[in-house]
Amino acid sequence: MDDLSLFLPDAAATDALGAELATRLGAGDSVLLSGDLGAGKSHLTRAIIQTRMARHGTVEDVPSPTYTLVQTYRIGGIDVFHADLYRLGDPSELIELGLDDAMAGGALCLIEWPERLDHAPDDALRISLVPEGTGRRATLTGPARLIDGIEAATHA
Ligand SMILES: Nc1ncnc2c1ncn2[C@@H]1O[C@H](COP(=O)(O)OP(=O)(O)O)[C@@H](O)[C@H]1O
Ligand SMILES: [Mg+2]
Repeated sequence: MDDLSLFLPDAAATDALGAELATRLGAGDSVLLSGDLGAGKSHLTRAIIQTRMARHGTVEDVPSPTYTLVQTYRIGGIDVFHADLYRLGDPSELIELGLDDAMAGGALCLIEWPERLDHAPDDALRISLVPEGTGRRATLTGPARLIDGIEAATHA
C-alpha cells in the first residue's frame, strides 16, 4: 500500500486527477471517496467516468446518485458502479443495490460515503478530500499500481 498527498488548487486539478486515475483503474477495482458534502467526491468520480467514456467514444450524463444511491454504466466492456451511500438506511440494502456483487465481481466501483459499507475490498483505493484554502487536499492510500507516479502525471 502506498500513500500520496496532493493539493488540488481548483476544480480543473480535480479533473486532471480523475483523468489520470481513469487510465489506471479497471475491472475489479474499487475507489472509496471520503469527505464532507461539497468536498468534491462527485466531481472527481464524474471526471473518472467521463474520461473512461471519452476513451471509448461515448458521451453520457453522469448524474449524482444522491437519491438512486447507485448509477451504473457499461463502458468499454466493463460495468461501472457509481454509488452515493449518504442516504443508505441499512447495510443490507447493499445487496439489493447490487453493490456487494459488484465489489466482489469484476465491476469498477466508485463509492461516495464508504463509511456506510459494512466491508470493503482490502485493495481498494481510498481517497479523502478536505478543503484547503480555496482548493482541496486529496490523500490517496492504496495499491502502488494505482498511485505511483500520479503526481508527475497530473502536473505534466
Ligand atoms: N480542487 C478543487 N478546488 C476547488 N473547488 C473544487 C475542487 N474540486 C471540485 N471543486 C468544486 O467543489 C464542488 C464539489 O461538489 P461535489 O463534487 O458535488 O461534492 P461531494 O460529492 O463531495 O458532496 C463542486 O462545485 C466542484 O466544482
Ligand atoms: Mg457527491
